[in-house]
Amino acid sequence: MNPLESRAAKPLSGTARVPGDKSISHRALLIGALATGETVVEGLLEGEDVLRTAAALRALGAAVERDTGGVWRIRGRGLGGLVEPAEILDMGNSGTAARLLMGILASHPLTAFLTGDASLCRRPMARVRAPLEQFGAQIISRTGDRMPLAVIGTADPMPVRYQLPVASAQVKSAVLLAGLNTPGRTTAVELQPTRDHTERMLLHFGAELEVAEEGDGALAVTVAGQPELTARSIQVPADVSSAAFPLVGALIVPDSEIVLSDVGVNPRRTGLIESLQEMGAEIRLANPRDVAGEPVADLHVRAGPLSGVAVPASRAPSMIDEYPVLAAAAAVARGKTVMRGIGELRVKESDRLAAIARGLTACGIEVEEGEDSLVVHGCGGRVPGGATIRTDLDHRIAMAFLVLGLAAGRAVTIDDCGPIDTSFPGFAALMNGLGAAIGPAGKGR
Ligand code: S3P
Repeated sequence: MNPLESRAAKPLSGTARVPGDKSISHRALLIGALATGETVVEGLLEGEDVLRTAAALRALGAAVERDTGGVWRIRGRGLGGLVEPAEILDMGNSGTAARLLMGILASHPLTAFLTGDASLCRRPMARVRAPLEQFGAQIISRTGDRMPLAVIGTADPMPVRYQLPVASAQVKSAVLLAGLNTPGRTTAVELQPTRDHTERMLLHFGAELEVAEEGDGALAVTVAGQPELTARSIQVPADVSSAAFPLVGALIVPDSEIVLSDVGVNPRRTGLIESLQEMGAEIRLANPRDVAGEPVADLHVRAGPLSGVAVPASRAPSMIDEYPVLAAAAAVARGKTVMRGIGELRVKESDRLAAIARGLTACGIEVEEGEDSLVVHGCGGRVPGGATIRTDLDHRIAMAFLVLGLAAGRAVTIDDCGPIDTSFPGFAALMNGLGAAIGPAGKGR
């Protein structure tokens, strides 16, 4: 355990680039490993989650290397070319790594054993087991469909049309990735649009992919099986989910003004920006451009008063990882912020709904926790603070409460900063470079 605390800060200022997008980084490695030729990736997130994906792919026979300049090179095995791993694949804390890889393995004729840390071994896997068994794979898991588990891939996969029972890009991606090494056309139908990085990257690598509207806003995403995937170069944008932390920090510390450069602003990911703008935040997207099939911009952020809003359930998939830090903004805002349709937060790296409610209460903020909703009664200024937050192996809970501490009367402490490295190595240094006061707990800085 390695505690860390944050205290009321002087105004944040300056320019920063947060690390690469986690979702895009996983996909660059995974799809690169299935292509023929050498895929070159710049700006890959070198967080523990992504490094787990890299290690798993090496165990499956792909060459995945980082050169001295920080550029990653993947020599792909070609579609269907992964080999049976001789070791157990440890996916660490990463649900994305585990579920996307399970999709790929399902249509390879091999047996692989997967495990993860205590957090990942608590998370539900039936959501991927169900569609992957329709391809003909077998998945043997612990009671309640928990990891560790074994994937027995099929040599003879059948194409699938699968309607997602939950709004999950991980499940959609598992289906599409299983469909790659399957003859015929595989379709994932989503009732609410989720992040489409898999689709964009498959197109970038030369796959044939179609998206059709099916009424009531449902989208049918179809991939044609057994495409020729050709190695590409990829520049990974800065992760909007990581940018969210300095962004909210700059909004809630009076007189702050910062720029966050090269941030991925895929519209399926920008629900937090939309919600904060509705709360009155000044966030400007400058220099919009397209990088390797993904929209990117620089975010200009200026502090100002925030007011509570109602965040609709329909927006949840586009900001599913951002509720912890939105809750920090809501705690400082004037009036109440209502978040609905967020039951999925209960099956993330921790039960985030409960963790947010517990942490805000400990910091002196009134909340109402529902089964799939949360109401935060903002205090319209500095929050009392003075609490120690249990992070439960959850990086985003850790960072959200450190951000809240920047606008707190008394320091906010997290019990363990270790999990932050899964998605945002260098978080405290980047924040402190902008003027924050985050450091070891109890040092009385
Ligand atoms: C991710 C999808 C989301 C998100 C996760 C990354 C992805 O999960 O919470 O951090 O890269 O596909 P779900 O799609 O299961 O909601």
